[in-house]
Amino acid sequence: MTFDTTKATSYLSEYKSKDGLDIKTLIDSSNFGGLTYNDFLILPGLIDFPSTAVSLETKLTKKITLKSPFLSSPMDTVTEENMAIHMALLGGIGIIHHNCTAEEQAEMVKKVKKYENGFINDPVVVGPDYTVGEVKKMKSVLGFTSFPVTENGKVGGKLLGMITARDVQFHEDDSSKVEEIMTKDLITGKVGIDLTEGNLLLRKSKKGKLPIIDNEGNLVSLISLTDLQKNLSYPLASKSFDSKQLLCGAAIGTMEADKERLSKLVEAGLDVVVIDSSNGSSTFQINMLKWIKSTYPDLQVIAGNVVTREQAALLIESGADALRIGMGSGSICITQEVMACGRPQGTAVYAVTEFANKFGVPCIADGGIGNIGHISKALALGASCVMMGGLLAGTSETPGEYFYRDGQRLKTYRGMGSVDAMQQTKSNANASTSRYFSESDKVFVAQGVSGSVMDKGSITKFIPYLYNGLQHSLQDIGIKSLTELRTKVNGGDVRFEFRTASAQLEGGVHGLLSYEKKLHN
Ligand code: IMP
Repeated sequence: MTFDTTKATSYLSEYKSKDGLDIKTLIDSSNFGGLTYNDFLILPGLIDFPSTAVSLETKLTKKITLKSPFLSSPMDTVTEENMAIHMALLGGIGIIHHNCTAEEQAEMVKKVKKYENGFINDPVVVGPDYTVGEVKKMKSVLGFTSFPVTENGKVGGKLLGMITARDVQFHEDDSSKVEEIMTKDLITGKVGIDLTEGNLLLRKSKKGKLPIIDNEGNLVSLISLTDLQKNLSYPLASKSFDSKQLLCGAAIGTMEADKERLSKLVEAGLDVVVIDSSNGSSTFQINMLKWIKSTYPDLQVIAGNVVTREQAALLIESGADALRIGMGSGSICITQEVMACGRPQGTAVYAVTEFANKFGVPCIADGGIGNIGHISKALALGASCVMMGGLLAGTSETPGEYFYRDGQRLKTYRGMGSVDAMQQTKSNANASTSRYFSESDKVFVAQGVSGSVMDKGSITKFIPYLYNGLQHSLQDIGIKSLTELRTKVNGGDVRFEFRTASAQLEGGVHGLLSYEKKLHN
């Protein structure tokens, strides 16, 4: 007998369950060992929407929501201010490393927070008796083209005028005073106006900067046209509600000196701190976490790293606002080999998130993200965000210079537990050694390597590639948002399947004599 083709979907009820495995069965039946991202696949779903309709909004911590689930890792070859600024502009967040002095790290945080402010609250200001020569010099050092002039040369002083590039450009006498040549006929905004009103005034004035003054005519802040333009081209940007400043994260260790470091970071405007440790279940971390939560109740704290629910429980109980998951899965990592300790990342992400999500504590899958598929899998397993080191290494926003070897343009990428990073630590900070509890070691035991990666171009192209790719991946699974992904994975609607060694071969490019793997245009 042949079944009626017009009723094919109704015959599905003949089967006890949907094709494939639900997530719990996938994890429970992997009794041969822990799963990595490559060991399984997600089965396709129904597509009845465009990929652009897929929302990637997600929780970073209990109180912070991002428009995209991407974090850059606190490593000294990955995240300094340039990376952090661009990660935030593109909808994610950068976590600034701490393999530097507290002052240097706080300065980087400050630069992120000051970038693209709707309102620039501490503009560079000059006094009326500054000379034209001094202003020309300031321009070449700072790169700005115009400065407000106030009576006392400071923000808060009575606004007298603006000195602009046009005023000084063709003025040959460098000893002339600013007040003699500044523009006095100004359009200003009154304190309290919102950004939209400010932008309208700015356009009307046809000037690059709009000074904002109080009722007494004192300078309060500035709005700048270049910032406005940047604002428009980054619709996903991660910003704080009130100040509209970019969100910024930074890492600290668990030593006494890290408390002083944190106070500087908080003063610089830090939004979220990562307690950086290869094994988060230590009394050092628990004490640090409790201290931070009682000292800075409004600061969001990401604790970790953890790979088991027992480790997670300790940190959740001590006040963690999010957890960072991963031990030994990083691309530069030799922890599992040397320490015999760690966990395959797929299982680690499932085990920790299955527990932490019950308490409303979001989790970040950290390490081992090598492509878009890994991101989808980490999120399907329960993570809210992913943290990337190697995938972003080699982009132009990372610290360090490019160099050439065998005709290829490269950058250094190194583990924070590599001998190189730990040696640098000895000389100026304790970041790397304290991450691995090695600060008193006479002989370092490396848990990471130092190497090089190819030039990947700018993350302003690479992150949108990850974003669009992730939208397409979720579309294939039949999912419109990360919230829906969570519900449908937990409800057994999203299905999984193991991937044997030969399935992995089949799923990769095969049978070609040669090919070029170009990931995006
Ligand atoms: P990746 O994205 O696979 O390159 O992994 C980056 C992650 O590896 C970081 O976010 C850290 O959690 C971790 N990591 C960084 N340095 C080391 C190291 O030296 N040894 C082990 N893990 C490391």
